[in-house]
Amino acid sequence: MKLDQFLLQAQHYTDPTLIPQEQAQIFHQTWLYLGPAEPVAMPGTVWATHIAGVSVLVIRDEAGQLRGFHNLCPHRAMELCPEPGIFQTKRLICPYHAWVYDLQGQFVAAARQKGFGEGFDGRDYPLQPVRVAVWQGLLFVSFNPDVMPLAEYLAPMSQMLGLYPQGEWRWRHQQTRRVACNWKVYHDNTLCDYHVAVAHSQTLHRLQGPVRHYQHRFGRYVNALVTPVPPEWLACHRVLRDLPPENQTHFYTFGVFPNLHILALPDGSLACLRIDPVTVDECDVVTDIYGMPETNLDELLAELEAFMREDMALAESVQRGYASGRYQPGPVHPLEARILHHQKLLLAHLQGAMTTLAGM
Ligand code: FES
Ligand SMILES: [Fe+2]
Repeated sequence: MKLDQFLLQAQHYTDPTLIPQEQAQIFHQTWLYLGPAEPVAMPGTVWATHIAGVSVLVIRDEAGQLRGFHNLCPHRAMELCPEPGIFQTKRLICPYHAWVYDLQGQFVAAARQKGFGEGFDGRDYPLQPVRVAVWQGLLFVSFNPDVMPLAEYLAPMSQMLGLYPQGEWRWRHQQTRRVACNWKVYHDNTLCDYHVAVAHSQTLHRLQGPVRHYQHRFGRYVNALVTPVPPEWLACHRVLRDLPPENQTHFYTFGVFPNLHILALPDGSLACLRIDPVTVDECDVVTDIYGMPETNLDELLAELEAFMREDMALAESVQRGYASGRYQPGPVHPLEARILHHQKLLLAHLQGAMTTLAGM
């Protein structure tokens, strides 16, 4: 029997020339998880931030509509809001020459506007839009105007978690961890269901339970590991009783292409891990924790800290292995099927880059 091999070569994790290609061909084409929607709930709120190497503004305008824009002044490319942060305002005023924009991204006025002459029309200089969408309180952006609707992109996660109580999840905690590995090494690790019983035997494995009960589900951009929650966990946590029966008794682990990992428990607790490339051999893992207002999340935070420490050590070691120049892709175990699913998507997006690598 011919075994499947991993599709990515060691160079995919060590070649710095791939970073801009990944930005253009992956991160600028898909939906990207940005963070919680809650901080931009109030009309008149602006969130200036960065995602996938791009400076963006997420705005809740006065009418309550959520909008996204490049944080880029059409006059001379200054960032309209150079400092990242969340603030309230009615207008955006560029710090360079004071062009003014409203929260719909429309030009309002320019300093010494008459000097531009008769032919100047401010309507020719709106801010450049970025797609934004919210799913269950999670805010996503996309730089691709033709990207599919978010709920469709997130299938089957949207079906499996779509019945959790809308709007009741609260964003409770955020932490960023710098890891000395390529972002894909860490993401492969989050998609790997082969190592949990071995490398997380005293941590995550206790929550995921016996490997014989693991079930995989695959959508186009999302895959899932579904495992029964252990009776000991159910005995001391408050399960959301309005959920469908499967949701009340199972723990879901989702891999969302390209760089998101979500853990969801039947008490409504949710951990979102976004894996941001920094350099070819460094990434930031940004963890957002959501939960019901009354849920004590200390146990989940301690659990995450414990198994993420284990994963960071594994991922950094694998990165050193790829950099050794001695690695050839090994066979794929069925418990690694979710890695292969995302590697196929990655290569489909990177076809041009593959041609370059083949000549290495
Ligand atoms: S760059 Fe913004 S007003 Fe000139
Ligand atoms: Fe792990």
